[in-house]
Amino acid sequence: MTELNLRVSRVEAEARDVLRLELVDPAGAQLPPFEPGAHLAVQLPGAMLRHYSLCGDPRDRSRYVLGVGRAAGGRGGSDYVHGQVREGMDLRCSRPANNFRLVEADSYLFIAGGIGITPLLAMVRWCEANGKPWSLVYGVRSRQRLAFYEELRQWGDRVRFHCDDEAGAPIAVPLLLADWTPGVHVYCCGPAPLMNAVQLHGAHLPADALHFEWFSAPAAPASEAPAAEGFAIELRRSGGCYTVPPDRSILEVLEENGHEVPFSCREGLCGTCETTVCEGQPEHLDYVYPPAEREGLRTMLVCVSRAKSERLVLDL
Ligand code: FES
Repeated sequence: MTELNLRVSRVEAEARDVLRLELVDPAGAQLPPFEPGAHLAVQLPGAMLRHYSLCGDPRDRSRYVLGVGRAAGGRGGSDYVHGQVREGMDLRCSRPANNFRLVEADSYLFIAGGIGITPLLAMVRWCEANGKPWSLVYGVRSRQRLAFYEELRQWGDRVRFHCDDEAGAPIAVPLLLADWTPGVHVYCCGPAPLMNAVQLHGAHLPADALHFEWFSAPAAPASEAPAAEGFAIELRRSGGCYTVPPDRSILEVLEENGHEVPFSCREGLCGTCETTVCEGQPEHLDYVYPPAEREGLRTMLVCVSRAKSERLVLDL
């Protein structure tokens, strides 16, 4: 899936534990276009594939800008980027892909927590370029962690910074959403407690007005745990036929039987393992497909999603 060879043209500290990377074509060619909310999958040593949101100006085809947060207790990708990536290095990357699209709306409320600012920053830039009304609330644990502060400051009071330590509390999500009016779409990206709060206190909004990009999977309540029954999968092209037991994912069963399916997060967050469904009814348990778009969808993310029907036929 890696299709671009990009050169790191700039590396600098953007905030505490946040690195800003700029990537260009080594020969100076224009880069493929991207839409706000898009990300790059970056191939790192040790078969690590990591997804980073593009936070630069979508109109700027000369470079991609990434903000990479150092993940405490992460799986090594952010440590590598923070510790090893230098200007002049080449990185293999996917073309931009988008699981977090900015839909047409009268106006936008962006709610960012920590490194979740990155996809929302590209959205802000797009809104500015297209004359769309927007506001942003950007929460961090402490002021040193405010990434892209100088750029965000230019937009005056449309950006509200919130430092938990100074305020003595996290962002007051109920207050933010209490003033919601029809036509406003809410986009949220950040740590799970913030996302959960926006889901909870935004429950009165139409489902299609709330948009999330998850960086880590929220803990599922016991009642939402995957169904206890196993199910069958058939592979249309290669002819395999397997049972997926309750304690294994489709991806694991495929791997155990020698099938190579691209993957990255294995948590239903990134979309890399998307697979076409030819027959049967998937049970979508991912955090990529918006709930309003799942009905009748003929693709699924096989690292987490399962089956409502007894059998699924996959285009593999
Ligand atoms: S590997 Fe990321 S969604 Fe499946």
